[in-house]
Amino acid sequence: MNRVFSGMRPTGKLHIGHLAGALTNWTRLQDDYDCYYGIVDWHALMSDYADTSRLGENCREVLLDWLGSGIDPERSSIFIQSHVVEHAELALALGMITPLGWLERCPTYKEQILNLQNKDLGTYAFLGYPVLMAADILLYRSEKVPVGEDQSAHLEITREIARRFNYFYGPIFPEPETLLTPTPKVPGTDGRKMSKSYGNSINISDELPEIWQKMRTMKTDPARERRSDPGDPDKCPVWDLHRVFNPDGGEREELASGCRSAAIGCIDCKKRLFSHVERYLAPIQERRRHYEGRPELLDEVLHHGAEKARKVARETMAAVREALGL
Ligand code: ADP
Ligand code: NA
Repeated sequence: MNRVFSGMRPTGKLHIGHLAGALTNWTRLQDDYDCYYGIVDWHALMSDYADTSRLGENCREVLLDWLGSGIDPERSSIFIQSHVVEHAELALALGMITPLGWLERCPTYKEQILNLQNKDLGTYAFLGYPVLMAADILLYRSEKVPVGEDQSAHLEITREIARRFNYFYGPIFPEPETLLTPTPKVPGTDGRKMSKSYGNSINISDELPEIWQKMRTMKTDPARERRSDPGDPDKCPVWDLHRVFNPDGGEREELASGCRSAAIGCIDCKKRLFSHVERYLAPIQERRRHYEGRPELLDEVLHHGAEKARKVARETMAAVREALGL
């Protein structure tokens, strides 16, 4: 079976944008691929090195959200990046052949350096973020990598690094293909892309009353000031969420035309959305709670996942060491 690697930084509780934009895809891939899913704690340290006190707790939250979403520890290897030391070792090896210019030209690097926000990201490690990401993927000789569009520039560097390594030392790595998510931009409550840093998230683990509270106050088409004003669904983030979480095409049609003619008010439209999100999240939250009360089970998942990952990682590193003459 072909292998897939993907990772997320442990930034705390995940939101329904992560769920629809990444995790739904990840769970589906388990049917056709040997999947390696890493909670990439080294990557988190690269931008949040000044205060690491929440790192462990954040890893736990991500793990719970993954397990809740249906990432299955029996089928996939779920692990913490730093537990498989070969990630760091391969990053060092790949660094030998990575030209500085590739990293300096990387759009995320240029962007971050411009928005320093009182954090100093002018570090050696932060510049090298794409090299560690390449190591994460190439360590499993992954054929496919499910990522969001925001990561496709990094994946291009991964392919270039693989190509250059193979050119110098022989054909060790496949050039991984991008599997773009079908749902790239789930909007948050303010209409911008849902993101923890905007404070516009609905979390996977939020209690239902909290979710309703967030939806009730969500922005809609600004032209619809009063109940009697007609609206345009294409300017409404609530509508965008219907398109992601409401599987009933007939109802969506009814809501869209009801919005345009002002036959349906925003609150009713939000109530319908809420019931679909509630249904979508019910099995996920239930599974999450099952794991939440069993810390020993979580440890076991991570232990077992790291063992499986290490097995492949060691094989790759043996080939890499031999190729390098180490
Ligand atoms: P990281 O720093 O680990 O990349 P992000 O929170 O930026 O963390 O994203 C993790 C994954 O979730 C990425 O694949 C990203 O594209 C996806 N994702 C994040 N937010 C959204 C969103 N609002 N809509 C769709 N996908 C999202
Ligand atoms: Na990202």
